Amino acid sequence: MPHTTLFESGGHRNILFDDFAAGGHAVQANQHLIVHNGAGMILDPGGHKVYSKVLAATFQTLGGAKLKYIFLSHQDPDIVAATNGWLMTTDATAYVSALWTRFVPHFGLDSLVEKRLLPIPDEGMKLDLGGQDLLIVPAHYLHSSGNFHVYDPISKILYTGDLGASINGKNTEVADFDAHIPAMEGFHKRYMASTRALRAWVRSVRGLDISIIAPQHGQYFTGANVKRFLDWCDSLECGIELLEPIYKIPS
Ligand SMILES: [Fe+2]
Ligand SMILES: [Fe+2]
Repeated sequence: MPHTTLFESGGHRNILFDDFAAGGHAVQANQHLIVHNGAGMILDPGGHKVYSKVLAATFQTLGGAKLKYIFLSHQDPDIVAATNGWLMTTDATAYVSALWTRFVPHFGLDSLVEKRLLPIPDEGMKLDLGGQDLLIVPAHYLHSSGNFHVYDPISKILYTGDLGASINGKNTEVADFDAHIPAMEGFHKRYMASTRALRAWVRSVRGLDISIIAPQHGQYFTGANVKRFLDWCDSLECGIELLEPIYKIPS
């Protein structure tokens, strides 16, 4: 099963699965797997159109390791729609913002598994993966009101969900940051809810030692482009700050 290894050292691996192309109008989405010391976490596994392929790739990549966590950065269908299948076919525990634990079951969570969908408190938390803490970092309103990122201190990868997303159809490393801006600017201005939220996030994560920023759609940032992306976010006006004071009523 083709995939990109973003990091590998000792018993620690960070895998980006190759695009499973949900097809049609479905937006391209990345699925990431973190493995540490025999335990795995799948991030934003996606919906029904890719479920069986992502599940097969996950089991194959895990080898003898066991899936421990299903991390859901927020409540969108391209992230949570197949949560029931993941909970039915594994013993893993799913985590989503406490704002969304009573909404995700509307995608059809079997009563046998719904107790394995657990809330992340607003302030974030740590999750122990095979003896290594992963940090669940608040990123509220970027774009969902209950929204989290994952920071892996071993690989120094920050997984940012929809933040950093690009829609040019590629899922490789960004080569030229300036040339990449048009692929993400419109999305961020409209989908990210607020400039204030974006700046709070930049201030929060600047203290982390980040080698890769890996979004759920499109290309990822490495090397000097990590700082370029943080600086770009710091200066971007988005969301409600761009609203006109009144809507024109359709006539
Ligand atoms: Fe989303
Ligand atoms: Fe998304």
